[in-house]
Amino acid sequence: MAEPHHPDATTGTAPTGTTATAVDPDPFESYERARPLPVGRPWVVANMVAGLDGSLAWNGQVGALSSGTDRSLFVRLRGLADAVIVGAGTVRAEGYGPVKLPTARRAQRSAAGRSEVPPLVVVSRSLDFDWDQPLWADDVVPRPIIVTAGTAPAARRAQAERRAEVLVAGEGTVDLAAALAQLRGRGMRTVLTEGGPTLLDELVAAGLLDELCLTLTPVFGGDPLTMAHRAHPAERLSSFTLEGVVRTGDELYLRYLLRRPEGGPVP
Ligand SMILES: NC(=O)c1ccc[n+]([C@@H]2O[C@H](COP(=O)([O-])OP(=O)(O)OC[C@H]3O[C@@H](n4cnc5c(N)ncnc54)[C@H](OP(=O)(O)O)[C@@H]3O)[C@@H](O)[C@H]2O)c1
Repeated sequence: MAEPHHPDATTGTAPTGTTATAVDPDPFESYERARPLPVGRPWVVANMVAGLDGSLAWNGQVGALSSGTDRSLFVRLRGLADAVIVGAGTVRAEGYGPVKLPTARRAQRSAAGRSEVPPLVVVSRSLDFDWDQPLWADDVVPRPIIVTAGTAPAARRAQAERRAEVLVAGEGTVDLAAALAQLRGRGMRTVLTEGGPTLLDELVAAGLLDELCLTLTPVFGGDPLTMAHRAHPAERLSSFTLEGVVRTGDELYLRYLLRRPEGGPVP
């Protein structure tokens, strides 16, 4: 896949405490590295973009926060994933369609024995979707996957089963660990989550987010919607280590890994 050249990119690696200044023709090369495989589930990478005020959207959508470089990284991360997992709120707010990748990336994936594009996995209990949207069309390959809970409304579940593959994980709400275990059972090794903030918060709280790729966009004034959408503070803080920094113009691309307890295994 042809990636844009970023002549103004500056990369740095945080753990040494140094600021690197070497110009790299592909500043996002490190994003391509193979990830470890946790026990019983895929590696989970999140890709999010936020303004300087921490806001995730403007007038309900993310587009105004995202630059051409951010969009190309968005596509590139999709190209690495075995599945793209999103909350239903994001599908509804953003009018999500099927995952699309450039021809070269599709061919590369196919040659490696993978699906040409990763399936979209949507987490929802309500199953309240506009089934006329292109995401649910009969000719979408691979079929989208909906992960829902055992108590999801029966009539909507029957409708969902006509439009997507439906997995059940958990009863009253989706048990994300169980959902990820099912994806691993299908051979998935790396999944990308594109949020939104409700799903992301649950993944972090459950210790299921391994890596966060965060674009910091130099704007202020977005919606009052931050990276974690929750009613109460989490029971504990989750810590991350800064694995890499890329600067393009006034934007920062930050890559964080979840900090596990000293010597603790990746679960
Ligand atoms: N800046 C960014 O990078 C970024 C990324 C993504 C989204 N966004 C923004 O975030 C906003 C949407 O936020 P959001 O919090 O609604 O998004 P979300 O996390 O995508 O969706 C929340 C919904 O996902 C489902 N869900 C999540 N966890 C579940 C669980 N454990 N069990 C069952 N269902 C579960 C529920 O759907 P049901 O209601 O169907 O049961 C829930 O209402 C939009 O404005 C969007 O533009 C920004």
